Amino acid sequence: MPPDDSRRRHREPAEAMLVRRAETGDEPAIARLWTLCDMAVPYNTPAWDTALCRGATHSRLFVGEIEARVVASAMAGHDDHRGWIYYVAVNPAWQGAGLGRVIVAHAERWLKDSGVWKVSLMIRPSNRQAMGFYEHLGYRETPRVVMAKTLAGDDDGD
Ligand SMILES: CC(C)(COP(=O)(O)OP(=O)(O)OC[C@H]1O[C@@H](n2cnc3c(N)ncnc32)[C@H](O)[C@@H]1OP(=O)(O)O)[C@@H](O)C(=O)NCCC(=O)NCCS
Repeated sequence: MPPDDSRRRHREPAEAMLVRRAETGDEPAIARLWTLCDMAVPYNTPAWDTALCRGATHSRLFVGEIEARVVASAMAGHDDHRGWIYYVAVNPAWQGAGLGRVIVAHAERWLKDSGVWKVSLMIRPSNRQAMGFYEHLGYRETPRVVMAKTLAGDDDGD
């Protein structure tokens, strides 16, 4: 689906956005962002996920800020040659201004600089908007079935 014209408005925010590694003090803003973007789930809280990522060497959580406010996020992780991207989120008030493209490019660059040659990501089947976005950025659907098993605690997540 070609992007509609409304998504081409206001390019300046993408240039104004500073992308940096998330820090401890960013947690409330990240939690707000993920809640706004419907990505916060009770079995995997933002506080838990961001703390795990900060302590790891093979993953990074990036935030994008404009005028000192967190407006975007992306998490990247890898096993030295294959990488994954998670938690790509742009505050709804700032969507359609190029911020998603910028923060994904930042996560891809970090993965590439870490030796990763291929990056994958998962999208809920109902999230057609995100599919269109990633397709536009060069991602292609690959025929795989994702299986999961919870190794700790109750299996109440998806
Ligand atoms: C998906 C999401 C990150 C996109 O961020 P965004 O800042 O609105 O996207 P951008 O403005 O950077 O768009 C980048 C490009 O993709 C295009 N695009 C965006 N959505 C598109 C769609 N559904 N179909 C086709 N193209 C699309 C834009 O037109 C733009 O094109 P251009 O740079 O060539 O002009 C954002 O909508 C979001 O946070 N959604 C909620 C959270 C979510 O679903 N995250 C993904 C989880 S898997």
